[in-house]
Amino acid sequence: MHNNHRSIVVLISGNGSNLQAIMDNSANGNYRISGVISNKADAYGLIRAQQSNIATQVIDHKQYASRDLFDNALTKAIDEYNPGLIVLAGFMRILGADFVKHYQGRILNIHPSLLPAYPGTNTHQRVLDAGEKQHGVSVHFVTEELDGGPVIAQEAIAIEPSDDADSLAEKIHQKEHILYPTVVSWFADGRLRLDGNDAYLNERLLPESGERLS
Ligand code: GRF
Repeated sequence: MHNNHRSIVVLISGNGSNLQAIMDNSANGNYRISGVISNKADAYGLIRAQQSNIATQVIDHKQYASRDLFDNALTKAIDEYNPGLIVLAGFMRILGADFVKHYQGRILNIHPSLLPAYPGTNTHQRVLDAGEKQHGVSVHFVTEELDGGPVIAQEAIAIEPSDDADSLAEKIHQKEHILYPTVVSWFADGRLRLDGNDAYLNERLLPESGERLS
């Protein structure tokens, strides 16, 4: 296990409500947020972090000529905190293979769908357009395949006839704010492990849909 696995760095691009939930939980939790890095200078999550006296940094992808150069700058900034875990919380950049390899088994992402269904963006509208009855959120290990790493945990919600993309986003966020800090705590306690394309919780191989909290 990484020697500093209770220390985490959170990567964001926007509002940072998941970051907030992870910060709030860290007060009684078993992990500590060493730094928050955004690729956008105007991400509201940076203000949230500063209000909690957490170090912040902006690494603007537009300042780099290639993905590799951006990823290198990001890696350098992250490694200064020597974290055990990298938490992607609404981070809207795709990370290259070298980045993922560098932090093998130590990157988590939250995605607003019941993966493997609906990878990619705009998931709320897409589930509505497809006439789905169910939607949800997944926390997964990041591997080289976009939104394709093994699922650790999921929460489902029912889609009502009155729902639109905004109401779904709201319902999903409520689930996310419980699910993500929970999974981060599991990792901090050394209960989670990635092996190839398999996720283990307490040394138990998780099914394709991960663990369901409810
Ligand atoms: C969340 O819905 C998450 O699933 C997706 O981006 C959104 C981030 O929201 N990856 P916030 O910035 O944490 O409020």
